[in-house]
Amino acid sequence: MKIRAAVLERFGAPLEVQELDLAEPSAGEVLVRLVACGVCHTDLYTASGADPSGYAPTVLGHEGAGVVERVGDGVTSLAEGDHVVTLFSPQCRECVHCLSPRTNLCLAIREQQGQGHLPDGTTRLSRDGEPVRHFMGTSTFAEYTVMPEIALAKVNPEAPLEGACLFACGLSTGLGAAMKTAAVEPGSTCIVFGAGMVGLGAVAGCRLQGAARIICVDLSEDRLELAKGQGATETMLGGPDAVERILELTGGFGADYTFEATGNVAVMRQAVESARMGWGLCTVAGVAGKGETLEIVPRFLITGRRVAGSSFGGIKGREEVPQLVDRWLAGEIDVEPFLSHRLTLDQVNEGFELMEAQDGIRSVISFD
Ligand SMILES: NC(=O)c1ccc[n+]([C@@H]2O[C@H](COP(=O)([O-])OP(=O)(O)OC[C@H]3O[C@@H](n4cnc5c(N)ncnc54)[C@H](O)[C@@H]3O)[C@@H](O)[C@H]2O)c1
Ligand SMILES: [Zn+2]
Ligand SMILES: [Zn+2]
Repeated sequence: MKIRAAVLERFGAPLEVQELDLAEPSAGEVLVRLVACGVCHTDLYTASGADPSGYAPTVLGHEGAGVVERVGDGVTSLAEGDHVVTLFSPQCRECVHCLSPRTNLCLAIREQQGQGHLPDGTTRLSRDGEPVRHFMGTSTFAEYTVMPEIALAKVNPEAPLEGACLFACGLSTGLGAAMKTAAVEPGSTCIVFGAGMVGLGAVAGCRLQGAARIICVDLSEDRLELAKGQGATETMLGGPDAVERILELTGGFGADYTFEATGNVAVMRQAVESARMGWGLCTVAGVAGKGETLEIVPRFLITGRRVAGSSFGGIKGREEVPQLVDRWLAGEIDVEPFLSHRLTLDQVNEGFELMEAQDGIRSVISFD
């Protein structure tokens, strides 16, 4: 079938919306009609050429939500009409990682996905007979996409898809960092560095876990206001002396749990140093620049602080994204303040510009 999609032709150039061919889903695959898709930093990171593993031409986009149109042979968990959220982090339910409760890093299709292929090593996207690669296994800046069954989370059809798409990446990452990776205990003191989509999700996750104090740190007063709306009990402007100010606020000890959601390695260090001696846990969610390293004075670790990394918040997507969406529908998570701009597919490059200007939290492309 012919579809319209936003194609990355060359790194550093604007995306080009054009007509492509999309083949029918093969065995184990699903054809999804996209309804909404968020525009995320990772799309821009790849479009800019900064991502060393990036490739072109490809169809970007990974924060998708839509409706199942057709399923390939052997697909049993999804049927036509199901509402789905796309997962760049799949869940095969069979590999050694999926079988362990300790990680969400499914091993089933990592290699093929990294190369821009579907699990059988080929693409469904093409142009004049030439294959066009898939991005993050999702390629959701498009009217339709073909994805593996194991990379789609079936969600409650009552959930508006323009909000549901945020659970495909940043929001689940932040929520999960607090609820899964750190598993914040009720009554704790938490610090969240960064109040973008991920940091605000972490603030909400700490609240849902019953944290007593949630201190959010950012450079933007506007974003700190949004953090209050998600449950931050205190806010603070970031800066080189942030650790000292946090220690003052926490009786000299620091917090039970700290979260880093900026991607800045200097802030990661602050997050480690503002975790409490004895048991403070620092969870790093930000993606650092290529070649950057995190400096930690070993004494911080000897005296009982721990550091954990979190990919997609440790969320096992097919099982747990639907649960998070249900908590949104139950009124426990407030998604509306994150939906800053609504765009058409043709305006996708404006979504990048808004993001670079830090205008709003998320721009969402609507395909209706
Ligand atoms: N681990 C994952 O699976 C995963 C998933 C999605 C995004 N990410 C990463 O998480 C990070 C955050 O993503 P986002 O979409 O929320 O980004 P964002 O740019 O919207 O938010 C980052 C925030 O950090 C703030 N900040 C910058 N410097 C600061 C400082 N010195 N002190 C305090 N705050 C500071 C900025 O003002 C901004 O509000 C990025 O690095 C992104 O790549 C990781
Ligand atoms: Zn993303
Ligand atoms: Zn797996």
